[in-house]
This record gives sequence, structure tokens and C-alpha cells, in this order.
Amino acid sequence: AAEPDLEDFQRIIDADSRVEPRDRMPEGYRKTLVRQIAQHAHSEIIGMQPEGAWISRAPSLRRKAILMAKVQDEAGHGLYLYAAAETLGADRAELLDMLHDGRQKYSSIFNYPTLTWADIGTIGWLVDGAAIVNQVPLCRCSYGPYARAMIRVCKEESFHQRQGFEILHTLSHGTEAQKAMAQDAVDRWWWPSLMMFGPSDDQSPNSAQSMAWGIKRFSNDELRQRFVDMTVPQAEALGLTLPDPDLAWNEERGHYDFGEIDFSELFEVIKGNGPCNAERMAHRVRAHEQGAWARDAAVAYADKHAARRAE
Ligand code: 3HC
Repeated sequence: AAEPDLEDFQRIIDADSRVEPRDRMPEGYRKTLVRQIAQHAHSEIIGMQPEGAWISRAPSLRRKAILMAKVQDEAGHGLYLYAAAETLGADRAELLDMLHDGRQKYSSIFNYPTLTWADIGTIGWLVDGAAIVNQVPLCRCSYGPYARAMIRVCKEESFHQRQGFEILHTLSHGTEAQKAMAQDAVDRWWWPSLMMFGPSDDQSPNSAQSMAWGIKRFSNDELRQRFVDMTVPQAEALGLTLPDPDLAWNEERGHYDFGEIDFSELFEVIKGNGPCNAERMAHRVRAHEQGAWARDAAVAYADKHAARRAE
């Protein structure tokens, strides 16, 4: 049974209701939420880099404007999520230190390079598509501030996914060279996108407790399967193939069967051995150091106004 002063917490969880910042909660619940929300925020911030590299090289003013808006959205999602982590007593500066020194993670997917413009369409279509499948259930997460942040984030993600699909549709219905460029990008991003959902359920140490606490509503493999089922028909609409010869509709299961995922690649990338890990972290730390003056100025401004108000 729950410790006496956590009976309210358990009642909230059992009623599938919302835990709010001032509610008493088990330390483990708070810790695992700080872990997940902070790493979600880190993912949004690091995720600005692969796409940001193409803002100056977008093929038209329209594409440039759309990409700038998307990258700015990702920054906003990150700030939203850091604010949600702060409602649990986390200190933003400390969370960033933990990102920079490797004590906290960010999504493996952002450690892959964006080699052509088609990568930008593929990231929107597959990576933001996978993020939506993962984030929609989080709108019903038991922790109020996280669930509410997700509602706003999901609305913006669906725009990100659609603009990515439209880029690929333009390319795959363009010249042979454009179609080949789109197919090459899909070939490189498909398997890493499936790895975004995490290790298989039997290798997921956090899942059982996160599901018991109403944080994780569906398992890693369930959401991965949902993403595959949703994406295969879209690939057909694009006239592009997905690089998995085992992909086939299974009438009995009512789902697509798909090939084995090489999870050793996911664990290597998480360990820091992906194609771009070092570059992504170096860029992040440099931006953080070069931005110190802005943080100092904001604090000085706040202190000056606090002092004036106190006069
Ligand atoms: N990349 C990096 N680390 C990963 C990972 C991935 N793709 N998948 C799992 N991990 C880590 C987990 O964080 C955990 O390590 P930790 O205990 O040190 O945090 C470990 O591998 C074992 O995984 P579990 O399945 O036990 O961990 P979770 O129960 O936390 O499940 C998760 C992992 C599904 C990613 C879950 O944390 C989650 O839903 N997080 C919120 C969503 C999120 O972070 N999405 C990032 C995608 S990018 C994005 O959304 C930006 C968009 O704009 C494109």
C-alpha cells in the first residue's frame, strides 16, 4: 500500500486523473519525469541542428520561411519542456550541464547527418511523424504540466509532418534525379526513425514503472508498430519504397510485419558513437558558452527591476 501521505497520489493515478506540481508524489515519480521531460527538451534543442544546417540552403524563399518556422517551433518546444521540468523542482542550468557532460541523453535520431535537401523532407515526414505517434499519448500523461505542454506541441508537430510530406511529394513527382534524392534520404532515415521509439519492450527498463504511473500509455513496440502501420500507405502515396524487404501486411495481425531492427546500432548511438554525436555536442556547448552574455544580461535586468520594486 502507498505510504500514508501518498494515498492521495495513488487515488489520482487509479482514477486516471492529473497529478499537479503541488501534489505529494513519490520521489521516483518525480525523478523519472524530470529524466524524461528533460531529455525530451534536450532532443528538441539538439534537433534544431540537423535542420538548421539547411536554412541557408533551402531551394526557395517559401521553403526557407517554412523551415525557419519549424526550427523556431523546436526551440519553443524545448523551452516549454524545460519549464515543465522546472515545475518538478529541476534547475534548468543543471539540466543543461547534465546534457553537456553526458549524464542526460537526447534522441538518437539527431545524431545522423542531413546530406541533401530531401533529408529535410524526410525528417519532417518520418522523424516528426514518429514524434507525433509518441507524443499524442503523452497528452494524457498523468503529470498535468507535461500533458498540457504536449497538446500545444502536437498541434505544431502535425504542421511539421505535413510540410515534410509535401517536400517529398514534390521531389518524388519531380525529375528522376529529385526522385532518386528522395529515395536515398528515405533509405537512410527509415531504420533510425524506428529506433526513436526506444529499445524493444523486453529491453526497456523504465517502461513497467512508467506505465504503472500513467506516464507511458503504450509500450515502445506498440507505438513503433502504430508508426509503421501509419507510414507504409503514405510511402505508397509518395511512390517511394521503404528499405525493408520483410515489410508486408499481415491480415491475421491486422498490422504490417517488418524486419528485425538492429538495436545494437541504437545502443551505440546512445553511447555516443553515432555519425554526428561529437559535432552535435560541440555545437551545443559552443552555443551555450556564446550565449552566456544573454543569460547574464537577463539576470542583471531582473535584479535591477526587483531592486526598484523593493524601493
Ligand atoms: N534515443 C536516446 N535514448 C533513448 C532512446 C532514443 N531513441 N530510446 C530510449 N532511450 C534511452 C532512455 O532514455 C533510457 O535511458 P535513461 O534511463 O538514461 O533515460 C534507456 O534508453 C532505456 O529506454 P526505456 O525504454 O527504458 O526508456 P523510456 O521508458 O524513457 O522510453 C522514450 C524512451 C520512448 C524515448 C521515452 O522516454 C519518451 O517517450 N520520451 C518522450 C519523447 C521524446 O523524448 N521524444 C524525443 C524524440 S525527438 C522529438 O520529439 C522532437 C521532434 O520535434 C522531432
